[in-house]
Amino acid sequence: MYGLLLGAAVLLSAVGWFVGYHVYDYFRDVKGLRRYPAMDALAAFSNMSFMLLAQRGFRSKRLQDLHAEGNPVIRTGPNSLSYSDPRAIRDIYGHNTKCIKDEQYSITAGSHFHLADVVDKHEHARKRKVLSSAYALKNLEEWEFKVADKTERIIAQFDKRCTDAGHDEIVEYRSWTNFFSLDAIADIGLSKRLGFIDNGHDRCLALRPDGTTFEANYRESLYANSKAQSVLAWTYRWYKPVVALSKTFLSPYYSNLWKLNEGWDGIYLNLATERLQRYQAGEKLDDFFQTMMHDKNGVPHDLEWGEIVAEVSIMMNAGSTTTAIAMANVMYQLLINPKCMERLREEIDEALADDEVIASYEKIKYLPYLRACLDESMRLFPPTSHGLPRATPAEGALIMGDYIPGGTTVAMSAYVAHRDTTIFPEPETYNPDRWLGEAGKELGPYFIAFSAGARGCIGRNISYLEQTVLLASILHRYDVELAKPGFVPDRLESFNLHLSEVPVRLRRRQRFSEKDVLVDI
Ligand code: HEM
Ligand SMILES: *[C@@H]1O[C@H](CO)[C@@H](O)[C@H](O)[C@H]1NC(C)=O
Ligand SMILES: *[C@@H]1O[C@H](CO)[C@@H](O)[C@H](O)[C@H]1NC(C)=O
Repeated sequence: MYGLLLGAAVLLSAVGWFVGYHVYDYFRDVKGLRRYPAMDALAAFSNMSFMLLAQRGFRSKRLQDLHAEGNPVIRTGPNSLSYSDPRAIRDIYGHNTKCIKDEQYSITAGSHFHLADVVDKHEHARKRKVLSSAYALKNLEEWEFKVADKTERIIAQFDKRCTDAGHDEIVEYRSWTNFFSLDAIADIGLSKRLGFIDNGHDRCLALRPDGTTFEANYRESLYANSKAQSVLAWTYRWYKPVVALSKTFLSPYYSNLWKLNEGWDGIYLNLATERLQRYQAGEKLDDFFQTMMHDKNGVPHDLEWGEIVAEVSIMMNAGSTTTAIAMANVMYQLLINPKCMERLREEIDEALADDEVIASYEKIKYLPYLRACLDESMRLFPPTSHGLPRATPAEGALIMGDYIPGGTTVAMSAYVAHRDTTIFPEPETYNPDRWLGEAGKELGPYFIAFSAGARGCIGRNISYLEQTVLLASILHRYDVELAKPGFVPDRLESFNLHLSEVPVRLRRRQRFSEKDVLVDI
């Protein structure tokens, strides 16, 4: 009885202290953030508000609604601000920004940092130097054959399912784009044949630290990780204990996500380990892994094994999910905007020979309308949509002319920035034309699907290579239609803005006869 009373008293005073502290903090307002409207009644007191919003699955949309009511800066937590005016991009993300990646990146990191979660500027520069030779454009074109190979395989699969082959199967385009981008990055990065396209599923081998193996589903495992982190990262210094707690019976939802995440940890560990074995066996393979091991003169980089594994994980994560989302999104946009589809078709048909099955990158990489269609789709639905958190430097920083004290979290969602009506009029309309000509060029600095500055995406060119080759090849070969007219995919924002599915039917165009069917390559 006493125990119970004591327990209740301790709990109450803990809650009381907690609430009291946050209220005190709010009124003290050391940083002067009270001048900005808060997202809701709780946001100025606690990060909990934003976590609840994240848990609901589309925080950028809510922020967009709030910003659209005429608030360029919104307080999303006691110490965090969201911006909507694309003119703040320079201050928060640009090359000369003094802001660094927010602490969230380091608390969710593993034993070693990788290129995307390392916060320290010098460490980042060291890593980026090693990896940029891998991702550079020269190699890119050497690797086109790997992307062409995946394109050939996906077409072989689509040919088996297309309507005119008498099958009339529904093709769930979203999944296939993911098999495609996974197969592509595994080959480009690790010379690994995952075979997801050929198999039509993404079950693969995972390795435990003790050396035993098990099977896991690639997407399910990887997406569980980002679902959990996109909410729990906001607990900051409590992250580790909160994760530990969320793995217990107290939270079946999170326990399940963390269980699935073991699959993801095992998958990239297995991929890295397999590739290391090939390296040690003396195989000379032209891929990222090789570039990570030594420079072009053969001088070893001597990275720790943990760092190598971390780089493999980010490559297999950032290098697949976003591109797959982008590919599915642009197909969907073209299907619901038939005039754009038609115009793009004409441009592609003109560039490619009639009997060309795999679009050659050389012929399509500068097609203006093709690029405009891709960019307009990534504007509307940026694959990485949420506000990427940055911390102001100790001495504070000016953001759009306002002084923001040091150690404040600042962010701008690409989903929000891309809907600024002064730069993108009629922002909800899919209008590739806005990207054409001189006027289109001027929009460049306000397009942040790949973020910007020193921490901008290193895989951007690879992504365009994959996106253009696949889209041009598919549209050149098939007529595509939504399996169900009027279909609208669901959206779920974790780290990335996922779309649920895009079920389509494919029919080979007149120019292709039965004998052209590509099977069993
Ligand atoms: C449509 C496709 C893609 C989109 C929209 C995209 C978007 C982004 C964004 C927004 C960032 C900044 C992340 C942050 O600030 O936390 C980023 C960074 C990064 N991306 Fe991508 N990405 C794409 C494709 C790729 C590909 C294909 C790869 C690898 C082959 C890749 C690898 C990376 C890496 C390693 C970073 C960290 C760069 C650094 O901090 O130096 N991405 N990407
Ligand atoms: C809330 O978020 C801020 C960053 O915006 C962080 O500095 C702070 O530690 C967080 N508070 C708690 C209690 O986790
Ligand atoms: C992508 O290619 C362009 C040239 O077309 C180059 O200027 C740019 O640095 C490349 N970006 C990356 C991240 O490799």
